[in-house]
Amino acid sequence: MLRVLVCVSGGGTNLQALIDSMESGAVKGAKIIRVISNNRNAYALERAAKHGIASECISPKDYDSREEFNRAFLQSVDQAEPDLIVLAGFLVVIPPEMIAKYRNRIINIHPSLIPSFCGTGCYGLKVHEKALERGVKVTGATVHYVDEGTDTGPIILQKAVEILPDDTPQTLQRRVMEQAEWVLLPRAVELIAEGRVGVEDGRAVIR
Ligand code: GAR
Repeated sequence: MLRVLVCVSGGGTNLQALIDSMESGAVKGAKIIRVISNNRNAYALERAAKHGIASECISPKDYDSREEFNRAFLQSVDQAEPDLIVLAGFLVVIPPEMIAKYRNRIINIHPSLIPSFCGTGCYGLKVHEKALERGVKVTGATVHYVDEGTDTGPIILQKAVEILPDDTPQTLQRRVMEQAEWVLLPRAVELIAEGRVGVEDGRAVIR
């Protein structure tokens, strides 16, 4: 059984998609062992509680320095003994020590077709605002491994979503979630649980 730790900051709809996929049996061979949030008020924490999943809040605000927070965060992750860490709308920079220790065992979902509309400061609704500003006709979502850069790690899965003439950032965000994110993230976890994802020459390959 793949032990999955999910890190969240907000509403947790991607966490919910993962929970649903496991409870329905669509994704087998993986279970969520813990949810970590940096935000005490994240609705994602209620979602975890409703499904009997252990959760905890670790916020940089509760520590005197970033180093102290990073240490506490890594310690908590280590204690959970995860096989896979899923960043599902987690808005905290992952400490470099954690990236090194869990190399190719941390995945992130991003709401665009990387390398478009990604990088530092480009997250959540801002991604969709930028896509509409640029006037692209197609956007989507990406699941990728986390490396030392921002949204630069090996790409595991991507799915395209059409942009409609009347879209607002909100309507586009919802369509990208429904058509891409909530499909891709459970699928990526399933593929990893099946041992079918590898990394060769910096690129993810699905066997
Ligand atoms: C999702 O759209 C996710 O792709 C995005 O934040 C949202 C979280 O929603 N993540 C990023 O932008 C990361 N760069 P959720 O809390 O409802 O899953």
